[in-house]
Amino acid sequence: MKTSVLTVRNLHKSFLLHDQGQQIPSCSAVNLSVHAGELTALVGPTGAGKSSVLKCIYRTYLPVSGEILYNSRDGQSIDLVSASEYDILQLRHQEIGFVTQFLHCLPRRAALDLVAEALIIRGESQQSACQQAAELLALLNVPERLWQVPPATFSGGEKQRVNLARGLISRPRLLLLDEPTASLDPLTTQRVVELLRRIKQQGVAMLAIFHDPSLVAALADQTITLAAASLQTETTEEVC
Ligand SMILES: Nc1ncnc2c1ncn2[C@@H]1O[C@H](COP(=O)(O)OP(=O)(O)OP(=O)(O)O)[C@@H](O)[C@H]1O
Ligand SMILES: [Mg+2]
Repeated sequence: MKTSVLTVRNLHKSFLLHDQGQQIPSCSAVNLSVHAGELTALVGPTGAGKSSVLKCIYRTYLPVSGEILYNSRDGQSIDLVSASEYDILQLRHQEIGFVTQFLHCLPRRAALDLVAEALIIRGESQQSACQQAAELLALLNVPERLWQVPPATFSGGEKQRVNLARGLISRPRLLLLDEPTASLDPLTTQRVVELLRRIKQQGVAMLAIFHDPSLVAALADQTITLAAASLQTETTEEVC
């Protein structure tokens, strides 16, 4: 029987730009589910709200309406829209990983340390964390000469590999992936596909955005398509 890890019901997100008097629709009526050991692909045109859905699940954004229910390791159903900041931080450290579209991290920290960080926060020794980080960076074809260098000066593809390694190292129960192979060469993309397959077999639930249909075909157990959002302009009384 399938184990449900995440259920999203009727999710709606928009942004009110006060200074311009505009309501920017992001995503609406999104329904999806993610199961242990399966990958749900999120597809749709640019601007359809795919990244916004992942950010609502990770609670970077608060939705306007809708439900996001996460079934935790200890069997609780947690509403990610109303959960406390503390609970969300705990889940981010222990259970939910996010490989964002772009690498955001502190400058002046070596790539290896950035990748090892999640394991150290979880209480693993520096040595074991760095060893696992090195293995993952090698698997993702990041040249060893770059491991002690901060990623600020890396190429787009090198940054993306560090970003992936950061998301994958802690083996979360639920992994959110935003275009994880967008700037990778074919060989590294193939390695990522193999790695994601292996992670799936280990029971991780994944929700991933892909633009490349061949990646959807190679990895997805189900596909959710978001329609393009049309720009709506609403003048509200709050706006001068
Ligand atoms: N923080 C924000 N403030 C205002 N508007 C935003 C914000 N984040 C997203 N949007 C708007 O929401 C809409 C959906 O953006 P989103 O990044 O979710 O699209 P996407 O489907 O991921 O696109 P892409 O395929 O290009 O990555 C866009 O019109 C975008 O401008
Ligand atoms: Mg996006």
